[in-house]
Amino acid sequence: MLKINGLERGFGSGSNRLEVLKGIEMEVSQGELVALMGPSGCGKSTLLNIIGGLLEGEKGKIKLEEFEYGKDAPAKLVELRRKGVGWIFQDFHLLPHLTALDNVALTLDLAGKNEIEAEELAKVALERVGLSDRMDHIPDQLSGGQQQRVAIARAISGNRRLLLADEPTGNLDIASGDEVLNLFKELCHREEDPLSILMVTHDPHLASQADRMLLMKDGKVAASDIRSAWGIGGEEE
Ligand SMILES: Nc1ncnc2c1ncn2[C@@H]1O[C@H](COP(=O)(O)OP(=O)(O)O)[C@@H](O)[C@H]1O
Ligand SMILES: [Mg+2]
Repeated sequence: MLKINGLERGFGSGSNRLEVLKGIEMEVSQGELVALMGPSGCGKSTLLNIIGGLLEGEKGKIKLEEFEYGKDAPAKLVELRRKGVGWIFQDFHLLPHLTALDNVALTLDLAGKNEIEAEELAKVALERVGLSDRMDHIPDQLSGGQQQRVAIARAISGNRRLLLADEPTGNLDIASGDEVLNLFKELCHREEDPLSILMVTHDPHLASQADRMLLMKDGKVAASDIRSAWGIGGEEE
């Protein structure tokens, strides 16, 4: 469902030039939960931002379902952001004065659904993440794990098929992190309409539960396993 070829991106110019992505080749299939690891500053967020249509690449191609882009400016990728990808961030990004239901419905409103339809779809999404009994709570009345589930409901509402999760469990305790990961697995592995998730994480325990691990190094991504994620070998001899 997602295919990236030869993606390059750097920042700055002249002697301040920093090459970050140096020819990314990767694919994610429908129904796959893929973990992306790599040292801080290696370009994981840059890659996610380009896939999500928030930043343009300088070279290369991305194909995500019906969308083809790569070097296109974010201003041209409105449809991709509305329909193609959903985002999940470390710090949830929920609006503090809105209920769970309104946090989810707002995104659908902005995507052009009418009020009634937005509320219906928001309810369905919140049910899918197991929060039917918390719809009228504001973020402060929810645990960290529950807040992240509201953010996941928001990301999957409106039928988005690829979720980009940038360190989604970074602000959660171990139990809530596991809860979020189990929800990810459920969404990816269900029979009907499975989602795909590309998740950046620093946690080898979580990464090892994904269907596949990728390691970003020197501007490229390569398949990885739990040993190299822990930094205990994994290099070819
Ligand atoms: N807008 C920007 N302008 C200049 N440098 C940037 C910008 N965004 C990211 N960088 C640099 O690119 C590198 C990769 O950043 P990032 O993708 O955030 O890494 P990661 O998410 O893996 O920690 C870092 O050195 C960072 O400072
Ligand atoms: Mg980052």
